[in-house]
Amino acid sequence: MAKGPFNDTVMNHFMNPRNVGEIEDADGVGEAGSPVCGDMMTLYLKIADNKIVDAKFKTFGCGAAIASGSMATEMLKGKTLEEASRMTNRDVLDALGGLPPAKEHCSVLAEDAVRAAIEYYQKKKGS
Ligand code: FES
Repeated sequence: MAKGPFNDTVMNHFMNPRNVGEIEDADGVGEAGSPVCGDMMTLYLKIADNKIVDAKFKTFGCGAAIASGSMATEMLKGKTLEEASRMTNRDVLDALGGLPPAKEHCSVLAEDAVRAAIEYYQKKKGS
């Protein structure tokens, strides 16, 4: 097979994405839409003692968005909320070993969804 623009890590997370789905009793839910392409991602967080104990995502997005959601949810597990809110799309890109420049915006979907989910949780808690 000819080598495409995506590296093996990206292909692995695209072909075999981790943490796809919903968390029914999620503590935080965040939705993000890309202004670049109009694709969407929804992220679900389970939070206990200020830590993310589970994370799942769904996306109507491209392969790079699927890989970004998969990697981001893996990275989120075990993080404190403070650590998670500092996570940027750069961190996701680095963990994926990079995306082609035209696809970097897809990782922003993951960052935006994480922020929205944390915000939702904090609002719900009233803090
Ligand atoms: Fe829309 Fe990748 S092209 S998320």
